[in-house]
Amino acid sequence: MQQKDIAKAVAILRSGGLVAIPTETVYGLGADARNPLAVRKIFVAKQRPMDHPVIVHLAEVSQLSQWAVDISKDALSLANEFWPGPLTLILKKAPGVLEMITGGQDTIGLRIPNHPMALAVLKEYGDGVAAPSANRFGRISPTTSEAVREELGDAVDFILAGGRCGVGLESTIVDVSGEEPAILRPGMITARQIENSLHHTIQKQKKNAPRVSGSLESHYAPVTKMRLMSTEELALFLTHEQDDTAVVAWSRLPVSQSRIVRMPENPWSYAHDLYQVMRELDKKGLRQIIIEEVPETSEWDAIRDRLLRAAHR
Ligand code: TXA
Ligand code: MG
Repeated sequence: MQQKDIAKAVAILRSGGLVAIPTETVYGLGADARNPLAVRKIFVAKQRPMDHPVIVHLAEVSQLSQWAVDISKDALSLANEFWPGPLTLILKKAPGVLEMITGGQDTIGLRIPNHPMALAVLKEYGDGVAAPSANRFGRISPTTSEAVREELGDAVDFILAGGRCGVGLESTIVDVSGEEPAILRPGMITARQIENSLHHTIQKQKKNAPRVSGSLESHYAPVTKMRLMSTEELALFLTHEQDDTAVVAWSRLPVSQSRIVRMPENPWSYAHDLYQVMRELDKKGLRQIIIEEVPETSEWDAIRDRLLRAAHR
């Protein structure tokens, strides 16, 4: 890790600029969360609607009280167990938090990411950094610095290159602002892990959830048409040759076809690869991308969620 890159990132944040920051989930597009002009630049660069809230990233649990109030026992225990890590907590916002950060709601999303460069920047910076995923609105989140450049070009002042993101899918979002915790967006920290940590059950799907851009039905979409198929449908489909189609499969189908992209059989490796595979396939000008459905178990929840969105048109 280059100390001068960290210093440069911090200087740009202080002067109200935009820095792409690697995290363990996906790259974030960071700005000073206290500076309305800086936060506004995020929305312009992403071409994102102004009423969508953004996550504020912190370096330490002790900073929570500068951003949130009414922090429950559940919230603290999740923070202590999973941070730094791929978890975002929705809490009641502290007075003075910018409207642009909360999307005009009374809650705020907070997270301590587990990536050495992100943590170095956040520690050195010493306050909250607003950072949604560093993609244009509605597109696939970037998991490499090259993908950030493709998405944002010169709209970002500096890209901190931190290699490929380890987790590869966006954080699990848990709303702990109400009576009962609720999962707003599944991630690789599963509902079961959250329940085990809290020693009680939580809501898996909240009705009338607050605005979460990741909960729009069509999101994370590639340009190429995507279709999901069960393993059985896929086996049948593969008996016909189709040059203009790519097939993304994780199960060991008994066919050897060059157009099959073989995905890992374990969900963590699959999640790590998924966005990069989708991004590369999307550049090939194919007619469609067929993706094999994934298992129904909870470690696959986040992957299934992103695949359903990507295939929704
Ligand atoms: O893994 C991640 O969470 C990445 C990295 C960069 O940290 N960030 C990320 O940010 O995915 P973004 O903005 O692309 O997605 C964050 C989601 C959005 O869907 C947003 O609506 C939701 O979090 N969110 C933020 N604040 C919220 C709030 N106060 N209430 C409900 N949802 C909120
Ligand atoms: Mg996003």
